[in-house]
Amino acid sequence: MTAARRGPRYLLLTVLLSLVTLVSRAQNDSSSEAAMHRFVSGLMSKMTLEEKIGQMSQIAQHAPPLIPHEESVRQEQVGSFLFVRDPQEINRLQHIAVDETRLHIPLIFGFDVVHGYRTIFPIPLALAASWDPTLEESAQHMAAREAAAVGIRWTFAPMVDIARDARWGRIMEGAGEDPYLGQRMAEAQVRGFQGTDLSSPDSILACVKHFAAYGAVAGGRDYDEVDVSDNLLQNVYLPPFHAAEKAGAATFMAAYMNFNGIPASGDRYLLDDILRKDWGFRGLVVSDWETIPNLRTHGFAADDADAAARAVNAGVDMEMTSHVYLQNLAADVKAGKVSERTIDDSVRRILEAKYKLGLFKDPYAPQGAAERELVSPAQRQAARDAAERTAVLLRNEGDLLPLRQSSLHSIAVVGALADSKADTMGSWSLAGHYDDTVTILEGIRAKLGSSVDVRFARGVELDRGSESIFDPQFASPKPTLLTQQQKDAAFAEALDTIQQCDVAVLVMGELQSMNGERASRQSLDLPGDQEKLLEAAIATGKPLVLVLLTGRPLTINWAAAHVPAILNAWYPGTEGGHAVADLLFGDANPGGKLPITWPRSVGQEPLYYNPTLSQIPNDRDTMYWDGSNAPLYPFGYGLSYSKISIGGLKLSAEKLQPGGTLSATVTLQNSSQRDGDQVVQLYVHQRAGSAARPVRELKGFERVTVEAGQTRTVTIPLHADDLRYWSATTRRWEEGSGTFDVWVGDSSAAVDHTTFVEQP
Ligand code: BGC
Repeated sequence: MTAARRGPRYLLLTVLLSLVTLVSRAQNDSSSEAAMHRFVSGLMSKMTLEEKIGQMSQIAQHAPPLIPHEESVRQEQVGSFLFVRDPQEINRLQHIAVDETRLHIPLIFGFDVVHGYRTIFPIPLALAASWDPTLEESAQHMAAREAAAVGIRWTFAPMVDIARDARWGRIMEGAGEDPYLGQRMAEAQVRGFQGTDLSSPDSILACVKHFAAYGAVAGGRDYDEVDVSDNLLQNVYLPPFHAAEKAGAATFMAAYMNFNGIPASGDRYLLDDILRKDWGFRGLVVSDWETIPNLRTHGFAADDADAAARAVNAGVDMEMTSHVYLQNLAADVKAGKVSERTIDDSVRRILEAKYKLGLFKDPYAPQGAAERELVSPAQRQAARDAAERTAVLLRNEGDLLPLRQSSLHSIAVVGALADSKADTMGSWSLAGHYDDTVTILEGIRAKLGSSVDVRFARGVELDRGSESIFDPQFASPKPTLLTQQQKDAAFAEALDTIQQCDVAVLVMGELQSMNGERASRQSLDLPGDQEKLLEAAIATGKPLVLVLLTGRPLTINWAAAHVPAILNAWYPGTEGGHAVADLLFGDANPGGKLPITWPRSVGQEPLYYNPTLSQIPNDRDTMYWDGSNAPLYPFGYGLSYSKISIGGLKLSAEKLQPGGTLSATVTLQNSSQRDGDQVVQLYVHQRAGSAARPVRELKGFERVTVEAGQTRTVTIPLHADDLRYWSATTRRWEEGSGTFDVWVGDSSAAVDHTTFVEQP
């Protein structure tokens, strides 16, 4: 029974009680803040300048050390380690820090827990394709539990860089092209990693990266320069960072590249004016890998001493990997290039982060936690659910999918990627294990048992080139280079296998190493001879399903026109094989939607759904002489085995006040025999602003389940605050005003339309 139904006195009592709770929570918060302040100040008053600078250094396990690691700890020359992940080693180093140093300051161990720690979840771009922030939050919470179990309390995630250019390899690490979806996914990840209390043993610090606009690198080339207008910066690239900051993210990472002419790791405008002054961020900023010595490479710093001074003065508190702070900051202070106050501010932020995690009370990896937590059944189940909710069904002519197990005698599974552990996990799976990972071939075999004859052929072998990862356990097995004769034989064998079976599942796409850092591509086509094999396979006349493994949009125009069923599984992670098998055979129903536009040609890149228009607003297709500019698949697109329509758009009001909310209601109808999910997406367009306004922008969404044959209504709130935009004319944030178009539907091509007016 609600408070209102129990009567006014009960209601009053409830309100009073909540007020008391709020006030006492605020008092507790401020008294614990004060306690932290006292503790850290007390500690800092005992520290020498050298000890302070030691805290500002992070050592990476694989980087060449100045002195042996344990000596760095003993001599208080390190505040944090990166990549150390054996709990025994973590505790050994921690004991040295706590027991054998003058000030007993614990270390903090960091790691790139990007999409899972040991249990690998689908890649972040895939998690965004779930359009389900709750899923994103719980996936990152599971990741945090595993990491914390081995003593890692700091992750270098979430990566919240908006990416509009599919050539950029790191597009797979983020939430795609859209600032609104990006904001929701950014804050969900922060909540997932950090929980509600950082000192809880399964919370880890989030590190929001890479500040800022790294996704806009020229030509999609990794580390290249970024030149973005204030309009793009404020309206497109910064919002997810700001959302993560507002969600309480404890740390940020400065980016590698030149940002509008200044290296991001030496840019006071980004790190101080925006992050600290405008947004009020009080946490710690870490550099990216060697970005401080690289200030010289940018033609910015004269030498290492200059680089150290520029970075710390801009606001970088801790140096990752290199030793420029350690070797130069004391001299910089003595020379008056860096003030002691600046050093103190940085050290305070570092010690506060350790304090908040509870490391001064309990710095050790918990006994037995790793055995309990790593790849536990609960972890596996969560990863499998996530992989099922992130897959996007791109095509399903004649309802070929789901396959009906009972009517099959044989199935051909074709493609080297179908049985590759590394390519099931995807890039940034540094602590993932091959042995834990279920490939698609294994998943299909496990599902079908002996009832169906499963035949495998590798087909096209992709050239792994110089693929190598510093963690040897993750390095993919290099196939010996095949001769043309061997290639032809493998090709023919694949076709033969297809011909002998009732149906074929071709698993194709990119090697995991074609995605991620330093993995930009000049082409978005299926690499190697995969498309050739696809064409020959279709010519056999057998029913054919294409499963894609990829971390970016691919120009699969031929497949989109000829292959009846296409399921994009991204890189689905440890349980990927089981999840894909569930999806193929109907034990799961795809409901993911693309978080990024799929182009027809690499020449269209960067291609995104929310530009501003100029000429020919209704005929964008004619903008290229040699091809359509329409996307192959629009942002927000994805099918389901169910048929769920969206219609009957109605707004709760025709007018919206600044600061207010109105809501859009639609009716969903599932006319199929199968329960399924639909993502209701709400887009708006402001008809006239003080600066040009995008053709449409996502401003609300909800993923819902509709049972077979059922109808349900869904109401999406639209907040006036989400209509605010940074105006290039007035150079400030403005309320939306005037007439707005609204569309609600199942992708960015939604047509159900109405309007409202925002009136200040
Ligand atoms: C990447 C970061 C990452 C760091 C540590 C850098 O090369 O840009 O995203 O967190 O390495 O692995």
